Amino acid sequence: MPDLSALDVIVDSWRQTFHLCPPHGLINDPNGLIFWQGAYHVFYQWNPSGCDHQNKHWAHVRSTDLLHWEWLPFALAPDRPYDAQGCYSGCAMDVDGQLFLMYTGNVRDAVGGRSSYQCLARSRDGVRFEKLGPVIDGAPEGYTGHFRDPKVWREGQAWYAVIGAQRDDLAGTVVLAKSADLVAWQLIGELIEPAPFSYMVECPDLFRLDERAVLICCQQTAEVCADGIRRADTAGYLVGEVDLAAARLAHTGFRPLDRGFDFYAPQTLLDASGRRLLIGWMGLPTQPETPTVASGWTHCLTMPRELTLKDGRLLQRPLRELARLRGEVIRMPDTALQAGATVSLPQVPGGVWELDVLIDAPAGADCADCADWVLHLFDSSEQSLRLVCEGSHGRLALIRNCPAAGQFDERKDCEIDTAVTRVQVFVDRSSVEIFVNDGAEVFTTRCYPASEPMPPRWVTTHPLRLRDLCLWPLQPQPR
Ligand code: FRU
Repeated sequence: MPDLSALDVIVDSWRQTFHLCPPHGLINDPNGLIFWQGAYHVFYQWNPSGCDHQNKHWAHVRSTDLLHWEWLPFALAPDRPYDAQGCYSGCAMDVDGQLFLMYTGNVRDAVGGRSSYQCLARSRDGVRFEKLGPVIDGAPEGYTGHFRDPKVWREGQAWYAVIGAQRDDLAGTVVLAKSADLVAWQLIGELIEPAPFSYMVECPDLFRLDERAVLICCQQTAEVCADGIRRADTAGYLVGEVDLAAARLAHTGFRPLDRGFDFYAPQTLLDASGRRLLIGWMGLPTQPETPTVASGWTHCLTMPRELTLKDGRLLQRPLRELARLRGEVIRMPDTALQAGATVSLPQVPGGVWELDVLIDAPAGADCADCADWVLHLFDSSEQSLRLVCEGSHGRLALIRNCPAAGQFDERKDCEIDTAVTRVQVFVDRSSVEIFVNDGAEVFTTRCYPASEPMPPRWVTTHPLRLRDLCLWPLQPQPR
């Protein structure tokens, strides 16, 4: 965690231990992720003066191991005419040994009209930043003021940027721009066609993984439901081949990155060992207030995850460094469960723990004959969180009943086309991240227990065997 000793840190029973959360106020998108001069730098959207989406600064933390974070002075404050209503999301890059930031200056006029400026800032020491002002002045022709969140990378002799955009016809897309010097930018075109009902795309990030191009972005769509129009904000990705000269991404379709209730605005970085790491915001733009607002802070970032590609799909694996947080292992003997059986897993006191278990599916199973089971987490008299494997229907669901957050039996689910053979769970007081089959599906969710929950419980309607089940208390250590 950051060294928050000098800050006004609010501590309540829901404050996490190994996730990045704000000392007070609101956190949203991770920004400017970079491994620079031997350290990981994470910036994030921060409202230091309240728990609403106002007054966005860039907070700044630094780490050499992704476990211990040092709190640095905030990098950007909304104090210029071109960013007066917020230093919105963006990225970081190394420019000849200096740390540059490119971010969106958000400006609102008296009647609520919005303008966006893509701006640069520079630091020699990686701590103090000097603003250099806008390099893309307002939205280009054909786009509304919703033009933001530049992510820049270098390829050959050029800098490229992907920028989230809304066309004048109110459809969302991702614009590709090119520059020789980060100052003069030329728009090349749109990388993707707007998705049905899409009205804005936020936080794009384009990178190569195993020779493929991966575009991460957040689709904001007005989904038409039986009861009218509902907003749906989904962070997802497209995999394909990119032609930068023509600004075209030939891809196989948009796929959600996460299946839980609280995940948005992820960004990635490439570290010194060549790993592509992702961190997201454990929240959503259109969410109701979280219960921690009452004590003066809200939201957190996800734990970092390592991305790999398999058969054209992204896998998100828990960061291997997290194993260093493990306390003494609690093993459960391999257990064969009969149809209808329930087994309680050992209790890990303290509300901060990891579970890793292998599940033996019937030999040669495809999903038509996979088991149906439920993993109960966070059960108490007030609330419950259930990972429900409906193997016989080829679906996997998370059902959350969390009255403290005003949520009652909400369900999120996805299709699965292979048996569930491994489940990893990371609980950090008020957050749960569940990795299924080595990160083929991930469920990221907040849950706010009012009292100590019961130990996790497995309930199955089909025979199955739990194997190599380990639980660890996770104990962030002072350095
Ligand atoms: C996504 C987002 C970005 C914007 C930022 C403002 O959550 O809306 O598009 O830059 O948050 O805080």
